[in-house]
Amino acid sequence: MFIKKEKISTEKKQVIEEFRQHVSSGKAAFFEKYQMQFVAGDRSGCWLEDMDGQQQLFNLHCNGGVFNLGHRNPQIMRTLQTALTEVDIGNHHLMSQYRARLATDLCHSMPEPLNAVIFGVSGGEAVDVAIKVACGASGRKKIVSVFGGYHGHTGLSVQAGDEKYRAPFHLGHTNFQQVNFNDLTAMDRALDKDTAAVILETIPATLGMIMPEEDYLTTIRKWCDERDIVLILDEVQTGWGRTGKLWAFEHYHVVPDIVVLGKGMSGGIYPMSATVISDKLNQLFVQEPFSHISTFGGSELGCVVSSEVLKISASEDFLNHVNLLAEQFRQQLSNVYQKPMTGFQQKGLMMALELNSDIAGPVLTKTAYDQGLLMIYANNRPSAVQFLPPLIMQAEQIPALIERLIKALKKAKKLIPLINLKDKVKHRFSF
Ligand SMILES: Cc1ncc(COP(=O)(O)O)c(C=O)c1O
Repeated sequence: MFIKKEKISTEKKQVIEEFRQHVSSGKAAFFEKYQMQFVAGDRSGCWLEDMDGQQQLFNLHCNGGVFNLGHRNPQIMRTLQTALTEVDIGNHHLMSQYRARLATDLCHSMPEPLNAVIFGVSGGEAVDVAIKVACGASGRKKIVSVFGGYHGHTGLSVQAGDEKYRAPFHLGHTNFQQVNFNDLTAMDRALDKDTAAVILETIPATLGMIMPEEDYLTTIRKWCDERDIVLILDEVQTGWGRTGKLWAFEHYHVVPDIVVLGKGMSGGIYPMSATVISDKLNQLFVQEPFSHISTFGGSELGCVVSSEVLKISASEDFLNHVNLLAEQFRQQLSNVYQKPMTGFQQKGLMMALELNSDIAGPVLTKTAYDQGLLMIYANNRPSAVQFLPPLIMQAEQIPALIERLIKALKKAKKLIPLINLKDKVKHRFSF
């Protein structure tokens, strides 16, 4: 037995039992097996505490960017509390000053011709809208995306992601074609006269933060222009300052036709997503303005929250802070290379640790958890562990994190040879 049993209070046992019976018996069994039965209680800033108060976790996953501004960010909470004295969800059919304000600020934060916003609740919904718009405007049906990509679990977004997300539901893909990320030859071949859109994460997170090679995105942009294909960049994880610029595509000298936003847009407080589209694509809605509807999309309360998130995330001081932290991590992580870690990927605070085998990612996820670090391996490339600290953390916190990481790596190094590989692969985490 490699895994020490966790102590659990009676109250927590009851929560786990209810979760097992009425939410997910599979998840409950999974977390029990690996003794990671964390039930979030108090939370603030970079930290989460278990409801028993026995385990604290520094959040190095941040739900892929939801907690960019930390847990229960006081400025965001104040904003929501004030908004609650004035508005509610609002009416999604009528015009709204809050939706108008946020849409204007979002469009001003992006280059021309990105001039219209369709609001939603989740990232998957926003990706669905992007694909609908591309197909509607072009009259074509084929969508090209990348192997190992991830765009959500809703109707169209799941089709654009990796095969592993469709297979459990027997969703064959007829008009979706995947090619390898950074393979321009395959992309060139895939972009034919039936292609409506290419959809890519600017930096694919679930593939372990593989960086786009120089000219990759600019070449695709050029081909999309020449072949009248819509370029969709999914910035659900890379947006909101994560990479050291407000939007990650700013690093790569491209302007997409559609940008998909989610996660961090919530400030960790109110679910919000957006599909930002070009003037040309927006023509689709001139004749048919009610052809896409989302009751809760662009809730007025959510708009107030996201406007505040945008104000914070776009500020020069904030982005300087992210870049300063990124430099500190770069320097301090470079000193850590020791088995199973062999390197790391980085664009700002969009980071992943590179490990020496597929089994090392899941094992490090567990040993890091035991050291009080919440970090999760990349589901489509388990030899990479995503490393996504809150953007509001302080540089002084880095050395203590690295100390914990070193301990976790040492433990993982000892454990890996003992693990039954077959058993581990069968029970992969699936975040
Ligand atoms: C890049 C990317 N796109 C889309 C989504 C889907 O977002 P949601 O879970 O809010 O539907 C995710 C979620 O992890 C994501 O990482």
